[in-house]
Amino acid sequence: MNRVPIGIVLNGVTGRMGYRQHLVRSLLAIRDEGGLPAGDGRRIWPEPILVGRSPAKLQEIAERHGLTDWTTDLDEALARDDVQIYFDAQVTQQREKAIRAAIEAGKHIYTEKPLADDTAAAVDLYRAAVAAGVKHGVVQDKLFLPGLRKLARLVEGGFFGRILSVRGEFGYWVFEGDWQSAQRPSWNYRSQDGGGIAVDMFPHWQYVLERIFAPVRSVQATIVTHIPSRVDESGAVYEATADDAAYGTFELEGGIVAQVNSSWAVRVYRDELVEFQVDGTHGSAVAGLRECHVQHRATTPKPVWNPDLPATEQFRAQWQRVPDNEEFDNGFKVQWEHFLRHVVDDAAFPWDFAAGARGVQLAELGLESARTGRRIEIPSLDL
Ligand SMILES: NC(=O)c1ccc[n+]([C@@H]2O[C@H](COP(=O)([O-])OP(=O)(O)OC[C@H]3O[C@@H](n4cnc5c(N)ncnc54)[C@H](O)[C@@H]3O)[C@@H](O)[C@H]2O)c1
Repeated sequence: MNRVPIGIVLNGVTGRMGYRQHLVRSLLAIRDEGGLPAGDGRRIWPEPILVGRSPAKLQEIAERHGLTDWTTDLDEALARDDVQIYFDAQVTQQREKAIRAAIEAGKHIYTEKPLADDTAAAVDLYRAAVAAGVKHGVVQDKLFLPGLRKLARLVEGGFFGRILSVRGEFGYWVFEGDWQSAQRPSWNYRSQDGGGIAVDMFPHWQYVLERIFAPVRSVQATIVTHIPSRVDESGAVYEATADDAAYGTFELEGGIVAQVNSSWAVRVYRDELVEFQVDGTHGSAVAGLRECHVQHRATTPKPVWNPDLPATEQFRAQWQRVPDNEEFDNGFKVQWEHFLRHVVDDAAFPWDFAAGARGVQLAELGLESARTGRRIEIPSLDL
């Protein structure tokens, strides 16, 4: 057989991310394409082993996709010799324990973010993975979004001149669950269950800012719970103990000022659910999930402030669309391909547990800043 079969335990595969993005859009999509080319010309062939708590749900997913390998016993799955990779898309609080078990079983680990509940645990997982000699990686899907790829291309091509500032706006209205059901799981709104928008989104902003612009050197955040109670999946009212909006200011190395608003209590008057505006001395860009528009200094108009007159300029029409110039695949799938090549061919994979720990650290220090009302410097992690 011309295939390199790779057994992958998928834990949390019944969840939103585990099922849709990781199983269907990534691993099964790679199989649909005939596998992923390995360095020796063979095809890397993911063999998913579905793991979760509900036999009925696992069996249903397996049958829907013509799969046969599923179990509710993680230890049994980790003991198998034909399993090389453990992947975790469980609720965040269950992650650390499962990753430790996988490290002890000698498996390579790939995981959803955030890597752990706190920085100390994340650093400890990094050390344990290194000591065990297993490969490790954390999902950083936003880096592979078409809009952000185009933004990175602009930075690499020197389009901006000196970059001054980055303004991010992320969010949408998440229904309270009473007269319309909520479109996110209720654990997201309970801090005792690992919820909160800061721990959810700051890890993303950490790697987006670091990889596309410069490392984050300080954080100052206002983090609040705008909607104090919600209705869960069973129709019961619960107290929203976790934050649902985080307004952060981040200073980056080299003096770039980044502000990112993250909110599940905002209505969208934007082109996309996340947008970043970047202003530089030579040009500006606005990038979303897919699209990116630019305005060069040479085409920048000269608006004059006069509140007595109606606006006559079509400001959005003064920007130019950045072309794709390449094919963009699903971002989760692209990062999976990198990880599979990392495991099989030892290809580089910079999005490791150390990177994941920096994301957890930014969320933790953002929350501390909000609690204490202080701007907080980000120390280098002691790895
Ligand atoms: N990369 C991204 O853009 C992104 C987006 C959303 C969520 N996430 C992350 O993915 C993870 C899952 O989020 P989701 O939105 O898919 O959540 P979800 O609630 O839809 O899925 C959670 C999964 O964990 C399982 N689970 C729930 N409680 C459990 C428990 N007590 N013990 C064991 N398993 C349990 C569920 O059965 C389900 O399979 C989270 O860590 C979250 O931070 C990442």
